Amino acid sequence: MKTSLAVLGAATLCAASVSNTTKDGLITDGLVSLGDWQSAFDKAQNFVSQLTTEEKITIIGAGSLTNTSANWTALGISDGPQGAQNFYYESAFSMTCALAMTWDKDAIYKQGKAVATEFYQKGLQMLAGPVSNPMGRSAWGGRNGESFGPDAYFNGILGGISAKAYQAGGVIAGGKHFILYEQETNRTSSMSGGGGMGGGMGGGPTSSGNSTMGASTSGSAPSGSAPSGMTLRARADNSSTTQSSTESAPYSSNIDDKTFRETYLWPWYDIIKAGTGAVMCAMTEVNNTAACEDSSLLMGMLKTDLGFPGMVWPDQNGQKTALGSATGGLDYGSSSTWSTSTIEAFLSNGSLSEARLNDMVIRNVIGYYRANLDNGEQPSKADYDDYVDTMSDHANIIRENGAKSIVLLKNDGALPLNKPRRMTLFGANAGPVMGGPNLQFTVQGSGPTYQGHLASDSGSAQSSLPYLITPEAALTLRASKEHTNVKWILNDTYSTSSSGNTLVTLSSSETAVDASYAGYAAASDVCLVFINALSGEGADRTELYNEDQDTMVNTVAANCNNTIVFITSTGIRLVDQWIENENVTAVLYSGPLGQESGNSITDVLYGDVNPSGRLIHTIAKNESDYNVEICYTYNCNYTEGNYIDYKYFEHSNTTARYAFGHGLSYTSFGYSDIKTTKLMSNLSYHAKGRLEVGGRADLYDVVAEVDVNVQNTGSRDGAEVPQLYIGYPEGSGADQPLKALRGFERVEIKKDEHSQVKFQLRRRDLSFWDVTAQEWALPTGDFKIYVGASSTDIRQTGTLAM
Ligand SMILES: *[C@@H]1O[C@H](CO)[C@@H](O)[C@H](O)[C@H]1NC(C)=O
Ligand SMILES: *[C@@H]1O[C@H](CO)[C@@H](O)[C@H](O)[C@H]1NC(C)=O
Ligand SMILES: *[C@@H]1O[C@H](CO)[C@@H](O)[C@H](O)[C@H]1NC(C)=O
Ligand SMILES: *[C@@H]1O[C@H](CO)[C@@H](O)[C@H](O)[C@H]1NC(C)=O
Ligand SMILES: *[C@@H]1O[C@H](CO)[C@@H](O)[C@H](O)[C@H]1NC(C)=O
Ligand SMILES: *[C@@H]1O[C@H](CO)[C@@H](O)[C@H](O)[C@H]1NC(C)=O
Ligand SMILES: *[C@@H]1O[C@H](CO)[C@@H](O)[C@H](O)[C@H]1NC(C)=O
Ligand SMILES: *[C@@H]1O[C@H](CO)[C@@H](O)[C@H](O)[C@H]1NC(C)=O
Ligand SMILES: *[C@@H]1O[C@H](CO)[C@@H](O)[C@H](O)[C@H]1NC(C)=O
Ligand SMILES: *[C@@H]1O[C@H](CO)[C@@H](O)[C@H](O)[C@H]1NC(C)=O
Ligand SMILES: *[C@@H]1O[C@H](CO)[C@@H](O)[C@H](O)[C@H]1NC(C)=O
Ligand SMILES: *[C@@H]1O[C@H](CO)[C@@H](O)[C@H](O)[C@H]1NC(C)=O
Repeated sequence: MKTSLAVLGAATLCAASVSNTTKDGLITDGLVSLGDWQSAFDKAQNFVSQLTTEEKITIIGAGSLTNTSANWTALGISDGPQGAQNFYYESAFSMTCALAMTWDKDAIYKQGKAVATEFYQKGLQMLAGPVSNPMGRSAWGGRNGESFGPDAYFNGILGGISAKAYQAGGVIAGGKHFILYEQETNRTSSMSGGGGMGGGMGGGPTSSGNSTMGASTSGSAPSGSAPSGMTLRARADNSSTTQSSTESAPYSSNIDDKTFRETYLWPWYDIIKAGTGAVMCAMTEVNNTAACEDSSLLMGMLKTDLGFPGMVWPDQNGQKTALGSATGGLDYGSSSTWSTSTIEAFLSNGSLSEARLNDMVIRNVIGYYRANLDNGEQPSKADYDDYVDTMSDHANIIRENGAKSIVLLKNDGALPLNKPRRMTLFGANAGPVMGGPNLQFTVQGSGPTYQGHLASDSGSAQSSLPYLITPEAALTLRASKEHTNVKWILNDTYSTSSSGNTLVTLSSSETAVDASYAGYAAASDVCLVFINALSGEGADRTELYNEDQDTMVNTVAANCNNTIVFITSTGIRLVDQWIENENVTAVLYSGPLGQESGNSITDVLYGDVNPSGRLIHTIAKNESDYNVEICYTYNCNYTEGNYIDYKYFEHSNTTARYAFGHGLSYTSFGYSDIKTTKLMSNLSYHAKGRLEVGGRADLYDVVAEVDVNVQNTGSRDGAEVPQLYIGYPEGSGADQPLKALRGFERVEIKKDEHSQVKFQLRRRDLSFWDVTAQEWALPTGDFKIYVGASSTDIRQTGTLAM
């Protein structure tokens, strides 16, 4: 590196050699250009300069200052991306995994802004999202459905758009979880069973349960007490964060530098650049150090390399020790751990600097100024049952995005439905759950299936549904207009013998058929089977398919030559138990879609909306095709490197049932005329731009473009999602997967028309992490360019010489 870069370079030196200035990650150290954060920083710094030490300590302990010369009300924080938790009179949006399946940047922005608007109107200041992590390293991860999925590029783009949208809606984006929190098993300690403390598993406001919210989501705790639910494990040695006893430890995710930067840290560049004001550190460990106390991670990488100017706050149990967290990079914590006397003792014996304390306080308030929450316009905090109706016309967005997100996996011509005469709905997932839409989920007891229509997840991702349009309700209404005869069996394990149902004896009626799956199936020209898979906070999955539901599908298909399966799942759900049955004529796949779910599904089944959703993960043929299982030991080593999901499948020549990015339409598309263009020359090998919020400025330079023509070759209007994958130049030492997603655009194209699609490649998109230099490197040579309809359905190839 040239000497002129030395000053800037210092910030990205590896953890082992960071200077003590850098290690503190202080905003005032001047390493990071604040850009449009500058005025918020100025206000924050001015505010903090008026505070006494005791007042500063109150703020970092999630407390409020009242009747003092400078007032501060603790931030009102709530989960999550599908709607604020535990309120009446608010909307229940589709879950992140569902929304991500739209692959639609506008849809993601629209929903993010609408959700945030509701937060703002309820008087909340911060939304615990976007959720980047867990990414879905393991197919069995219980919370995979809460995030944008395992592709780092995709996860980052969608996370960045969401963060922007939350701010546009008026609140602070609080990204989570940081980081390498990829499974639920042993996320706390073996002693507590690996999840009993889970945050935010309250029911909706209409549930009968006693709602609890995690520390992570209840920032408005009164000063002087710990944020509710936060329990802290004492350690003998305040400063040591290394576990001596694995008995009481959560698991540790151990990862090499290259994989870390290229897969797990990658999305955070986009999320931070987009203006995220807070980042929630995980309750687990990274390389045997608590994620909330790891200074190389929080101060070195997050606050310096990525230039993050906001607040780090802990997930439940994330704050382990007083000094370790204060010097490790946590900015907001429990007031019992960070009592006035404790912090003052650290200050007086020099173990904590005044500069670091000031930085913590600045970071606590800077997001508030950045979001203009100091303008005095926000309504005051509503109680959960105050009649503050924030729903506006959001039902339209929810219905529209729900339909856009549904993935058509298979279609032998059965869809769209065309005036069916006799239609039967099978399975609990078609209708209401017996106890109503907000039946409280239990944490470890959730799943593996749900005995009703699944429209929300559990734990931190549980919605407060104002109502729920089930498929049964919406389809009945739609079918009635065409005089379709509709029957149903809304149960996954129904059997005539066990129910003692007497319908079977009503043989005098021609329309009373044998009340069984087989009987109803045989008497229908369309059989719609609804199945689901549920997992969530607190426990990982035990299965990726379900025997009862698969038996139901097979029984129906054995008797009905037009069996259509609809899957609602919070994660990967396998289909090989019946996919090759010729009577299974169509399969649709989605995440939990929120309050309008049944309408969204009906819109697609009837072709009012032409499906355009795409998978955000690979559906394998067998469970054993996935390479990463749940880890049961204290050390969880990420030995698979960057090879997760489709990158692993390609690397190991494993044939997927449905590839990452797959999804069909009721029309068809053709691709032609690929063109690659290098836009910038004489690029340095290593990124060397100044450090800004989001990392080095030049990482975001658009250095190349790929153009392709997409033609609607079918007979209906529709939307296609052309995807750009790259392969790194051979011999470049980049050591990358065969293909990596680096662009996608959802384009609506009318029949017989075409669209010119342009993908812009940022320097970052063509770079790899050079472990030796500790910098992003841009290899020279020929990049392979692939454009297609999924990671395996490549329609156009080209090369890009860099
Ligand atoms: C930085 O580290 C050096 C050497 O380790 C030490 O002498 C100096 O006091 C430290 N400065 C601060 C501000 O902590
Ligand atoms: C605010 O402070 C003033 C002066 O210290 C005191 O007289 C007053 O009672 C306080 N008000 C409240 C509500 O605590
Ligand atoms: C702080 O709050 C008190 C009580 O609400 C109020 O009297 C005082 O003016 C406020 N101070 C500032 C600086 O806003
Ligand atoms: C992890 O969880 C499993 C299953 O609950 C338990 O048997 C094991 O002891 C735990 N391991 C650690 C290191 O906590
Ligand atoms: C809610 O809490 C109250 C008071 O602790 C208790 O009596 C009641 O049984 C709880 N209800 C439920 C559904 O757990
Ligand atoms: C974890 O430790 C490995 C081996 O020492 C190191 O290369 C890597 O950078 C560390 N990762 C993080 C995220 O600290
Ligand atoms: C732990 O922190 C307390 C202050 O809360 C301090 O009095 C004590 O000496 C510390 N213990 C160690 C081992 O550093
Ligand atoms: C489903 O049917 C089975 C067998 O008839 C019965 O035991 C079970 O209670 C039913 N489930 C629901 C949710 O009605
Ligand atoms: C398909 O359904 C028909 C009834 O329509 C049945 O006769 C046939 O055996 C089924 N085929 C399979 C492979 O299940
Ligand atoms: C399905 O079976 C019905 C009779 O039950 C028959 O009329 C129809 O042609 C069959 N459809 C297909 C696609 O085989
Ligand atoms: C993980 O790596 C550590 C050392 O880095 C090693 O001690 C441990 O045995 C490994 N754990 C597993 C489960 O492979
Ligand atoms: C995958 O297939 C390619 C080409 O067929 C071959 O070169 C490669 O060694 C295979 N990889 C594995 C892991 O089997």
